[in-house]
Amino acid sequence: MNIIRTNVALMHEIDKISEVAGYLWEKGWAERNGGNISVNVTECITNEIKSLPSLVPAIPLPLQFDYLRGNYFYVTGTGKRMRYVAKAPFEHGSIIRINDEGNAYGIVAENPVMPTSELPSHLSMHNYMREIGKGIQVVLHTHPTDLIALSHSKKFLEEGAMARILWSMIPESRIVVPRGIGIIPYEIPGTLELAAATIRQLDKHDVVLWEKHGVLCVGDDIVETFDAIDTLSKSAQIYLTARQAGFDPQGMTDEQLDALVPVFNLPV
Ligand code: 13P
Ligand code: ZN
Repeated sequence: MNIIRTNVALMHEIDKISEVAGYLWEKGWAERNGGNISVNVTECITNEIKSLPSLVPAIPLPLQFDYLRGNYFYVTGTGKRMRYVAKAPFEHGSIIRINDEGNAYGIVAENPVMPTSELPSHLSMHNYMREIGKGIQVVLHTHPTDLIALSHSKKFLEEGAMARILWSMIPESRIVVPRGIGIIPYEIPGTLELAAATIRQLDKHDVVLWEKHGVLCVGDDIVETFDAIDTLSKSAQIYLTARQAGFDPQGMTDEQLDALVPVFNLPV
């Protein structure tokens, strides 16, 4: 009996990952191996799975993750394509276990697929959110064309400007992403500098934009992290569609935006 495939709770999480991986490809946000996903699945792990030996010798982590000791994650593989993660999640991703010291990991199932190059950023985000008492389960990174396009304009990189313009395109944008979007100045993908800059934004935001690269969203449910990015992408499309039609979109007024706060009980 396959102790992974018969684990209903775990396979429910894996099915949602496959579903979202398919959306990322369909949206055109996942060229080649663009984007990556990590989901903390520790709660679904049975004693039987805990007894599985690692398929590879322990792989050191570049940082110590004290709050992730002994945790299990499903992580997409480095170089793997979202369109194939959607169809065969265990051939294009794997379940890893962080060791008891929080400084290395093993791969426990089902194949020795090496995790994403963005693992330092993902684990930094999971670790930091635990540290501040807001455990999250999911980090989703993807390459939405419209939001990346806006990050090529200085106007959108100023503190608060991106959120203000995107919120003002459609009410749902502020309602679905009330904590706005943090901006991370360009860094080389996969680096510890990028990971450190990313977690600095998490006190204020659930969604961050890596300049000229992509978006990350943290949350409890992978479908909701996808929805948050999708909603911001819709706003970016409205903005860009208006500009292509030759006019500056008016945007909702500050009064119209503020009026949403009490009605939808939004954080300010
Ligand atoms: P990986 O294939 O290593 O996950 O890298 C994709 C990516 O988007 C890097 O930022
Ligand atoms: Zn990327």
